[in-house]
Amino acid sequence: MCGIVGYTGAKPAMPILMAGLGQLEYRGYDSAGLALQRRKDIDIIRACGRLSELRDALPKRSAANAGIGHTRWATHGEPSVNNAHPHSDAAGELALVHNGIIENASELKAHLAGLGVSFHTDTDSEVLAALIHHEYQADQDLLAATRRALTRTVGTWGIAVMHKDHKGEIVTARNGSPVIIGVGEHEMFLASDAQALVPYTRQVIYLEDGELARITARSYEVQDLHATRTERLPATIDIEATLASTGEHAHFTLKEIYEQPDALRRLMSGRLDERFATAHFGGLNLTPKELLGFKRIKLLGCGSALISASIGAATIERLARIPADAESAAEFRYRNPIIETDTLYFAVSQSGETFDSLAAVQEIQRKGGTVLGVVNVVGSSIARQCGAGMYLHAGPEVAVVSTKTFASTLAAFTLFALYLARMRDLAPAEGSRVIEALQGLPDLVQSLVEKHETYKGIAEKYADFDRAYFVGRGEGYGLAQEGALKLKEISYIHAEAYPASELKHGPLALIDPQTPTFAVVPDDDLLSKNRSTLAEIRTRKGPVIAICHEGTLSDEADDIIEVPRSHPATDPIALLIPLQFIAYYAALARGCDVDKPRNLAKSVTVE
Ligand code: AGP
Repeated sequence: MCGIVGYTGAKPAMPILMAGLGQLEYRGYDSAGLALQRRKDIDIIRACGRLSELRDALPKRSAANAGIGHTRWATHGEPSVNNAHPHSDAAGELALVHNGIIENASELKAHLAGLGVSFHTDTDSEVLAALIHHEYQADQDLLAATRRALTRTVGTWGIAVMHKDHKGEIVTARNGSPVIIGVGEHEMFLASDAQALVPYTRQVIYLEDGELARITARSYEVQDLHATRTERLPATIDIEATLASTGEHAHFTLKEIYEQPDALRRLMSGRLDERFATAHFGGLNLTPKELLGFKRIKLLGCGSALISASIGAATIERLARIPADAESAAEFRYRNPIIETDTLYFAVSQSGETFDSLAAVQEIQRKGGTVLGVVNVVGSSIARQCGAGMYLHAGPEVAVVSTKTFASTLAAFTLFALYLARMRDLAPAEGSRVIEALQGLPDLVQSLVEKHETYKGIAEKYADFDRAYFVGRGEGYGLAQEGALKLKEISYIHAEAYPASELKHGPLALIDPQTPTFAVVPDDDLLSKNRSTLAEIRTRKGPVIAICHEGTLSDEADDIIEVPRSHPATDPIALLIPLQFIAYYAALARGCDVDKPRNLAKSVTVE
């Protein structure tokens, strides 16, 4: 989703801004642009499509030592050069980049148009540029003008603004869309994602919602929307700078699937306690007594994070015997939820920036609830807003589809379930069996990853079909949802997930030889029920591909992918791997852009 970068210092700004936008490329975008501050002017260069198009449009050299840049993911107005950021006022005096949505853009536009201001784009961001320019006329103070404009604005923003008469100065502000200032030696950076800053500095200031800042090469000044100054010292961030590289793999998606054994090792490192058959967490900020006081657990997230939350809830309920369920963060925040102080809430988010999940966290906190984050990106908005929880430590996930972070989230909830279960009534011997299964997981996943040729053959066999069903029961249904989401996201095959038990209540009507069903069939109490489901599908001549435990099925499916048994708390992670590969290889066979699927962004920072 949209990305912002900024630089002011003594070095040429253009290469720094382009490198920063390169770091944000993975988030997804459809156009990009730079504003470069020359002596008494601002040059704005924009292009539709990938960064290479922008690079072609840029001058060979630029003497600018300050500038701002943007990658846009269209919300208001189609993707086009005209709608790309930076935007300017009608006189071309200032440049603005904006992430977020201005909800009262039409009212503001009508008001400004009444004052004679003209507009040239379909975007809400241009309205904000015009409003700041209008306010600037009063006192020629860019920070004050931006602040006054924002007090009249309703919506979300992460912005950076420059004016031709304020050389080396950038004004930035945040409300619901992240902005991070990077403090260097006689130079300052800014970005919407810390990934773009770490090649230059580890000293950062995270702006909070409702804050603005003025930065120059040697200074920064932070204030709120009432012009009250806030003293802020830089914090040191601890994330790796990863210049986007797929290494030996053809795609980030494949690389990240292969990274799962290591990601799982990192997640578990230092968190398993064999002596007491439990787990350790450094960041929950809750005593065992406080944890025992909770009567229910509710997990929130969006997309794959929501699916991992639903499997996590089932694992917590199964092991710790405490009611647990998962809900879409977006649905939750809009239904005026009843927040109970004896419910422990979790917000699950790879990026830690998903707008709806962040808003759900704020809703819980506003009503006095306790919410923990399960987040991959260190220092992200949800991690900071929660202030406690578990980091996944899966390493940067660049592909739009989540793979390794999904597996790591499942493992994180298994660890948490074990921790809580051992506080409640899980016997040490059963706790030890869970630990053993967790310890064996990285090697088990590695052995499954090595069977990729098998999954490839099956994916290619079904890649030409237009639609598919995914079915399962219990955690198997969650895996079916994830398998279907992965397949539709990157191969564009229409894939629907159903609880296997629901098939005969309607969906069976669509089963025919052209509709394959991928069935997740673990060796559990429901095996015989699942066998009946497969028989019902095959009676209607629907092809069945079963992802099952070794030796459970023989001639009940057209294709069988066998996975070794682990433990009910860890089985979902093993059964997941073939589903990831099926989506990847089907997408590849269909010639799709696996890492950057159409219409999707890695980090969904708008509602
Ligand atoms: C997963 O493959 C998707 N790209 C998407 O559903 C994602 O999981 C969702 O947008 C939530 O993202 P988050 O984990 O960063 O909050």
